[in-house]
Amino acid sequence: MSGGEFSHIPVLAGETVSMLAVRDGVYFDGTIGMGGHSRLLLEARPGIKIVGTDIDPEMATIATANLASYGDRAKVLCGSYAEAYRLLPEKGINSLAGVLLDLGVSSLHYDKISRGFAFKGEGPLDMRLDLSSRFTAEELVNDWPGNQIEKILRMCGENNSRRIVKAIEKARKSERIKTTTQLAGIIEKTVPSFYGRRTGSSTGRVHPATKTFMALRIAVNSEFENVEKGIKTLAGLVEEGGRIAVITFHSAEDRLVKNLFSSLVGTGTWKKITGKAVLPTEEEIKLNPRARSAQLRVIEKNNRGIYEQF
Ligand SMILES: C[S@@+](CC[C@H](N)C(=O)[O-])C[C@H]1O[C@@H](n2cnc3c(N)ncnc32)[C@H](O)[C@@H]1O
Repeated sequence: MSGGEFSHIPVLAGETVSMLAVRDGVYFDGTIGMGGHSRLLLEARPGIKIVGTDIDPEMATIATANLASYGDRAKVLCGSYAEAYRLLPEKGINSLAGVLLDLGVSSLHYDKISRGFAFKGEGPLDMRLDLSSRFTAEELVNDWPGNQIEKILRMCGENNSRRIVKAIEKARKSERIKTTTQLAGIIEKTVPSFYGRRTGSSTGRVHPATKTFMALRIAVNSEFENVEKGIKTLAGLVEEGGRIAVITFHSAEDRLVKNLFSSLVGTGTWKKITGKAVLPTEEEIKLNPRARSAQLRVIEKNNRGIYEQF
C-alpha cells in the first residue's frame, strides 16, 4: 500500500516548523507517520537531515517512500521513539539538533477499518500499532477485571466509565466482544448520544464511544509510558540550543507532557518556549477536524549537564 491511498494532514504544521526554530543538524521525528511534518522541516532548511521512526512497520514503509526524494537527508527506522536512546547510537547518531513528537495515531489508522481503531465500520478489536505488543483491545475488554478497565477509562476523562464498564461486563458474559461496532453498540445503548459532549467547534457532537476507544488504544500501546520514557531519554540527546516539540491530542496526555517539561525546566538546563500550549486556529479545525484537540508545547535546552540524572 502506498501513502497515496490515504492522506494525513500534518497538524499545527506552520506553528511546529516555526517553533522548532530549525537550524542545521540532525532532527529526530519520533512519530514519523506519513512523513508530513518531516517533509516540511526538510523543505524549511536545506542544511538539516531527518532521522525518523515509527512503531508501526506499515507507517515506516509509507514514510520511507514519501521521503525517498530527499535521498540521504531522510532516514526512516522502525521502532518506538521511547527506544531512541538505543536506536540512534546504533546508527551513529549521538546528538540531535531537535526532536518532534506528534503523538497518537495517524489518519490511516482510523481510516483502515482492519486495524480496529475506529467504529465507523466493523473491524477486529485490535488497536495494536506494533503487532508484537503485549495484548489487543479485544483481550483488554474481555479478559481484564472491570475495575482496571474503569481506571483506564477514567484516566482518559470518560465521565461515564462506571456505566460503560458495567455494560461491558454484562455483555461479555453472554458472548465475547470481538469487533469495534459490537463495542461501540454496547456503549451507545448505555450512554445515550445526548451525553456526547459538544466539541466547541463546527464539528458537532462526539460519539459516546470516542473516549473509550481512545482510552483502550492508549492502554494497548502503552502510550503514556512511552511519552514519559521518550521525553526523559531524548532530552539527553538534544544539543545546546536544540528544541523538543510535542503535539498531544487530549488533556491527560498534554498534562503529562506539561509536567515532564516543567521538571526538565526545573533542572535549570531547559527553558520553556511555549508558556501556554499552542492551539490550532478555527480555520485549521474547519479544514481538518482531527486537529481540534491538538496542543503544541516546546522547550529549548540551555546548557549541558543535569539531564544525566534521567
Ligand atoms: C499523529 S501520527 C504522526 C503523523 C506525522 N507527523 C505526519 O505528519 O505524517 C503518529 C504516528 O506515531 C506513531 N507512533 C505511535 N506511538 C509510537 C511510538 N512509541 N514510537 C514511534 N512511533 C509511534 C503512529 O504509528 C503514527 O504513525
